[in-house]
Amino acid sequence: MNPFRFARIPQVLFRIGAVNDLSAIAAGYGSSLVLVTGARSFAASRHDEHLFDQLTARGVIIHHVTVAGEPSPALIDEAVSRLKGRPVSLVAGIGGGSVMDAGKAISAMLTTDGSVTDYLEVVGNREHPGTKVPFIAVPTTSGTGSEATKNAVISQVGKEGFKRSLRHDNFVPDLALVDPDLTLHCPQEITAAAGMDCFTQLTEAYLSDKASPMTDALALDGLKAVSRSLIRSYTNGGDIKARSDMSYAALMSGICLANAGLGAVHGLAGTIGAMFNIPHGAVCGTLMAPANEVNVRELRKMSKQDQALGKYAILGRIFADATGKSDNYYIDFFIDYLNAVSYRLCMPKLSSFGLIHGDLETISSQSDVKNNPVRLSPAQLAGILEQKL
Ligand SMILES: [Fe+2]
Repeated sequence: MNPFRFARIPQVLFRIGAVNDLSAIAAGYGSSLVLVTGARSFAASRHDEHLFDQLTARGVIIHHVTVAGEPSPALIDEAVSRLKGRPVSLVAGIGGGSVMDAGKAISAMLTTDGSVTDYLEVVGNREHPGTKVPFIAVPTTSGTGSEATKNAVISQVGKEGFKRSLRHDNFVPDLALVDPDLTLHCPQEITAAAGMDCFTQLTEAYLSDKASPMTDALALDGLKAVSRSLIRSYTNGGDIKARSDMSYAALMSGICLANAGLGAVHGLAGTIGAMFNIPHGAVCGTLMAPANEVNVRELRKMSKQDQALGKYAILGRIFADATGKSDNYYIDFFIDYLNAVSYRLCMPKLSSFGLIHGDLETISSQSDVKNNPVRLSPAQLAGILEQKL
């Protein structure tokens, strides 16, 4: 067995109705809470008023930060400068990946000086000491798995834009409070994009050259939940069993990506997300089929059968109804399934967000795809993008 390292995971509380425990948990940390929410999602879940009342009844002072879209350095710096100097006992992020990432970054930046940009990978030049205010992540979508990861993605969109992580093992949330009930009101379009992000993360972590037996076990269990419930949660958002499956799959995807890394789709999605205002999950969902098709094609060209092809056959078996077929049947089935599910979930073309042919070379040459199961050239990456332009 190859050696591996598995970073810490948060304490996990997974239960329908668990959000009702949040006020008591928050009060246990102290009397001053920074509550980070989205502009709409938590309010739409109809739990917000109840939580505010419960917290107030317990004597907890709430500092409310709202996050619209992916968090920018300016948003984090402004929130931190407003909160600094006040006693803060806990930060809680209730929302999608952007909200949880914003909360994670605020909890880390409250304990140090400077701008969050100074500490970001690649663009910053300072190392964060890993100190933070305790942080609880409460997802209201089933997608990024940020409730289980050690990084917060910060985005500056534009020509000089970047999408980079504030990362430290200590930034894994102290608690992931996962209540599938909170995802029941997630709109269909976001359910689709988040679900495809989760599906991509599980698949890429499973196929990663950094995968371990531990991440494989968790990724496959998450993928079984995806096979049961991704389409069900999209067609019937009120199906709590399907929503629970997807909440579980998203949690597993976060644990797996934090420990195994990701592949070509996320490498490309990171670069595209810095240049264009485009939902991360939609890019992943759109690129999932062509990227895996190229991976399989290149793996099949290799002289000795690669372990990754065996993993593709295992993926096909999870999603296929037929039994007793050959490995090649299941590998092809998996690629066909990816094409079918991205069509079923209405994944958009990249050009609908302003990408043009002239962008492909820049994107493919700037994308880091280091944990992909097979090395892909910039030309091959550009070919993946071209298929979905
Ligand atoms: Fe992702």
